[in-house]
Amino acid sequence: MQIIKSIDSLRQALAPLAKEGKRIGLVPTMGALHEGHGALIKASVSECDVTVVSVFLNPIQFGKNEDLDKYPKRLEADAKLAESIGADFVFAPSVAEMYPDGDPMTLVRDEQLEGMYCGAYRPGHFRGVLTVVSKLFLISGANDAFFGEKDYQQVFLIERMVKDLNFNIKIHRVKIVREESGLARSSRNEYLTEEERAQALGIYNGLKAAKAAYEAGERSVLKIRDIVVKSIVAARGVVQYVEVASQKTLQKCNGALGEEKAVILAAAFFGKTRLIDNMELN
Ligand code: PAF
Repeated sequence: MQIIKSIDSLRQALAPLAKEGKRIGLVPTMGALHEGHGALIKASVSECDVTVVSVFLNPIQFGKNEDLDKYPKRLEADAKLAESIGADFVFAPSVAEMYPDGDPMTLVRDEQLEGMYCGAYRPGHFRGVLTVVSKLFLISGANDAFFGEKDYQQVFLIERMVKDLNFNIKIHRVKIVREESGLARSSRNEYLTEEERAQALGIYNGLKAAKAAYEAGERSVLKIRDIVVKSIVAARGVVQYVEVASQKTLQKCNGALGEEKAVILAAAFFGKTRLIDNMELN
């Protein structure tokens, strides 16, 4: 496996492979790889001939008071993990390589959803994500790209961007990987103290209870949300948002759920750590 730091070198490495007709899979990450990323790499290795894992802590998707500086960085360990799963390349460019003129003036935005759910609390986050993901698609020329469903709004927006802008790439959604306790795997779980880690289960337990209520016939959006909110609060978490949205449009559901498939989206703080999770109601 090769670690590549420049855009030109990645293009030179991939061009002959693409010419031979090899299917190139891209797994975009910000590093601090865990089993959730492992599942994305595994999916790419099984679907594609060549797997590129990008490791780039993208500054333009972080707000001023967010955890950019504190975000765990460990390229060597990340490369080892990626290699052990079968990745062929780790693309780890510097900020100057990706943004040589400073913050880019051309940005990709989703007008409708960038300010909702996570976007309401992280202004500029999704345009930073969509911009860097577009760049990674164009740099790698990948045929396939793999994203985790834990970032449900993110994968939705990426799918929509691919459709709206005619990117020639297939997006694969990979199911949430959870710890044995049920806590969704996240690089930010590392910030949790042992006590907060136990409390953080309040999100998953709430989502599970809400889904059980739905399966038992509950259709009130208010009541479904309330189950999740109460579970987070009982676990001493601070709710940022809990919403029920349409899986198809990601617009908020109100009143009573009908035939359309919905998803519960939640974000909460445990101590200083902000975690997100979600659960589809099918
Ligand atoms: O999900 C992430 O880790 C990031 O948002 C992504 C998709 C790698 C873009 O920086």
